[in-house]
Amino acid sequence: MLLAYDDDGPGPVVVLLHGFPLDRSMWSHQRSSVGRIYRLIAPDLRGHGQTAAPDGIYPVDAMADDVIELLDALQLTSPLVLGGHSMGGYLALSIAARHPERLKALMLINTKAGADSTEAAQARETLAAEVEAADDAGPVVAAMIPKLFAPGTDATNPGLVARVRSRMARTPARALAGALRGMAIRPDRTAELATIAVPTLVLAGAGDQLIPVAESERMARSIPAARLATIPDAGHLSPLENPGGVDGAVLGFLESLW
Ligand code: MLT
Repeated sequence: MLLAYDDDGPGPVVVLLHGFPLDRSMWSHQRSSVGRIYRLIAPDLRGHGQTAAPDGIYPVDAMADDVIELLDALQLTSPLVLGGHSMGGYLALSIAARHPERLKALMLINTKAGADSTEAAQARETLAAEVEAADDAGPVVAAMIPKLFAPGTDATNPGLVARVRSRMARTPARALAGALRGMAIRPDRTAELATIAVPTLVLAGAGDQLIPVAESERMARSIPAARLATIPDAGHLSPLENPGGVDGAVLGFLESLW
């Protein structure tokens, strides 16, 4: 599937995959920091942003293959740095497991390797059905907004919360349902973490209510060449909540690679 994407900057290639249900604009800060030094490629994943939203389930591996197709179309076959936020991280882990030769390094941002529990998968199915019935993102926005930010961000940065809310609301219902059902059936990649052979940055938000720091610490311990950076004043959306902190960790990691 053809993905819309931004492609900016000189230098070695860094690809960043956004989370659910956002789009490539979540990397706007990194475009002007990381993208000044590196060639930053940020696609809109299947169903999100300006990329088409087909009917049906969006399995994580199929969404990851969309990214591989984009890299092939851009003739980027040499190993590159791949980063993913949350759902984008599930895709990055899928590529690390199935196409390790494409990677020079990995950045796992507010994400995790485990699969959904039965209860979590059931909750996603309920939400997918609600979104389809409403033909609107409202149920996803209502379910996710309270958990996406560090406690207090709604008071200190209401503009950011409003922008994220309206970006989520633009995602078509069939894309939300497709991605929710795809994430519900994603494989558990915990055991594969030990086989990741490239340098890896695991980035956690100190106030992430969806993926606790302890889970990121466990993931970093399971990957042989991983380092962990915990971003203060940030919840699940650390690249948006504390862009300066994320830039510092990402640029420091990238510098260590060359
Ligand atoms: C995301 O931010 O991409 C989602 O929280 C991932 C998920 O729902 O598992």
